[in-house]
Amino acid sequence: MTKPYVIDELISAKAIAARIEDLARQISRHYAGTDKLVVVGLLRGSFIFIADLVREIDLPVEVDFLEASSYGNAMETSREVRILKDLRSAIEGRDVLVVEDIVDTGFTLHHVVNLLKSRNPARLEVCALLDKPARREVPIRATWTGFEIPDEFVVGYGIDYAQRNRNLPFIGKVRFTDPAPEGAA
Ligand code: IMP
Repeated sequence: MTKPYVIDELISAKAIAARIEDLARQISRHYAGTDKLVVVGLLRGSFIFIADLVREIDLPVEVDFLEASSYGNAMETSREVRILKDLRSAIEGRDVLVVEDIVDTGFTLHHVVNLLKSRNPARLEVCALLDKPARREVPIRATWTGFEIPDEFVVGYGIDYAQRNRNLPFIGKVRFTDPAPEGAA
């Protein structure tokens, strides 16, 4: 069970789309000429972001997914990162772009980057939609970041709270309404 909450818009769908165009332009420039790019989405939070991002990348791309566990249904990050679903593709000698929804403490990304680097890709970069630098516990940064946000719990555009709200077209912050939302009966 979750406590009652409302969602306040933080980043509009329009702002996200505009930022993705910028990111894709930079990424396309960085990897210009390659035919060995594999874009790796971290499930489940990145599924909408990766879908929009790859459609703006002007290069041949392969898409693959990896699922690492970090959050249960709680709002606390656990430090133990487990791989629940591994890649289908071999990435040795490939150009790898990891696509993450949010870099929070950094534990998930740190673990995933180390794992993928051990497989000897030619290049490995990270594109994260959101970054919460105030929460960082492991010194790691994405190569490209969509938006830096304050220490707020956010949902929407693929990102969940207790598996809900992934389908919101914008990014919103969760605000708990204890004891009752304003205007509620
Ligand atoms: P980290 O290992 O602490 O960096 O956590 C990264 C993962 O935690 C993200 O990929 C998200 O799945 C989840 N996460 C971090 N912050 C939030 C949030 O504000 N809302 C929902 N999920 C979050």
